Amino acid sequence: MKVLASFCLSLVLCQVGRASVLPGQVEKQPLVDVIHYNSGLKTFSPLSSDSSLLTSCNGVLNATSGGIAYRAFEPIAENERCVWTIRGGNAGGFSLNVLNLGISNSSSNTQVIATCLRRGETLANHILLNQTGPVNGVSYCNVLVITFASGSEVSGSTGFVLEYSVLRSSSLSPRSQDYIIDAGTAGIIRHPNSASRYENYELNTFIILPTLGSNTNVIYFRGSLEADYCYDNLSVYRFNATSVAPTKWEYKGRICGHILSDFISNGDLILITFDTDQSVVGTGFQLAIAPSDAAQCQN
Ligand SMILES: *[C@@H]1O[C@H](CO)[C@@H](O)[C@H](O)[C@H]1NC(C)=O
Ligand SMILES: *[C@@H]1O[C@H](CO)[C@@H](O)[C@H](O)[C@H]1NC(C)=O
Ligand SMILES: *[C@@H]1O[C@H](CO)[C@@H](O)[C@H](O)[C@H]1NC(C)=O
Ligand SMILES: *[C@@H]1O[C@H](CO)[C@@H](O)[C@H](O)[C@H]1NC(C)=O
Ligand SMILES: *[C@@H]1O[C@H](CO)[C@@H](O)[C@H](O)[C@H]1NC(C)=O
Repeated sequence: MKVLASFCLSLVLCQVGRASVLPGQVEKQPLVDVIHYNSGLKTFSPLSSDSSLLTSCNGVLNATSGGIAYRAFEPIAENERCVWTIRGGNAGGFSLNVLNLGISNSSSNTQVIATCLRRGETLANHILLNQTGPVNGVSYCNVLVITFASGSEVSGSTGFVLEYSVLRSSSLSPRSQDYIIDAGTAGIIRHPNSASRYENYELNTFIILPTLGSNTNVIYFRGSLEADYCYDNLSVYRFNATSVAPTKWEYKGRICGHILSDFISNGDLILITFDTDQSVVGTGFQLAIAPSDAAQCQN
């Protein structure tokens, strides 16, 4: 049943995908089908953890200080993708310190990145963690996303250890949530997931882990955001493993209140953030996630 639903959803997404670029609107008819097929699909839940140290791939840290030790002093594998979201309770700034970094200079396609997210800020700032010591540029972030992505040449490389602590608290809504979803399973994220309306001052993260070698499709469909404006909006980033820019996260656009539906596709990690301002709320949105056959469904 689930397999069938996911297969149908993928087909619909392929059709929708052909008609769409981001930002933009897709036709209404396929959306009816998507909503129909949704009934058979899994609903994803947000993640959180009070643990102060994570040593495995992927996770959310909500403690006000802690760290990540991933494959510290152990060899890394090729084409790994791991993401950790540092929420830190309700943070208005961080200190971040890289204690150990074992990526050899010849592993030029392997990156450890700290992404600084600030509510109300136009764009995320992606900082390449390429040396040990304190990291500049994180003292006013609300949330940090740490991305570890290895390339195909990893001989001689080991993982990393970093520690963080929250410098000050902020007025972010405590209902802000963090998702890390594996694209291998079709399903739906509903935001908000436990109320009829989202709140003011939210900053949420939605990260979709790829199945490398095939495309991940995400379809956005709106309930309601703050009117037709962009005061409450989603920002979309795609990881581009072949990028030659200093960090491989690329900004792909913003989804504002007038957009009914949209389609995002990538063969690698996807990061979506949702920011709300100080007034007027709506019923939010849904994100449908579906793996697809790369050959049939290129965007
Ligand atoms: C994270 O910590 C903050 C502050 O203690 C709390 O309000 C919030 O509910 C926690 N988040 C989760 C998802 O547990
Ligand atoms: C790697 O590059 C850094 C900075 O360029 C340099 O200091 C270091 O010696 C290099 N390490 C190796 C093993 O080549
Ligand atoms: C997106 O929303 C945030 C939070 O309300 C706001 O600060 C920002 O200006 C918006 N972006 C645009 C382009 O309007
Ligand atoms: C780290 O990356 C920055 C930005 O790309 C660069 O300016 C700096 O030289 C790099 N440091 C090392 C040790 O490679
Ligand atoms: C990824 O980056 C490379 C190099 O900058 C570029 O040629 C390619 O078009 C990018 N891929 C996508 C999907 O944007």
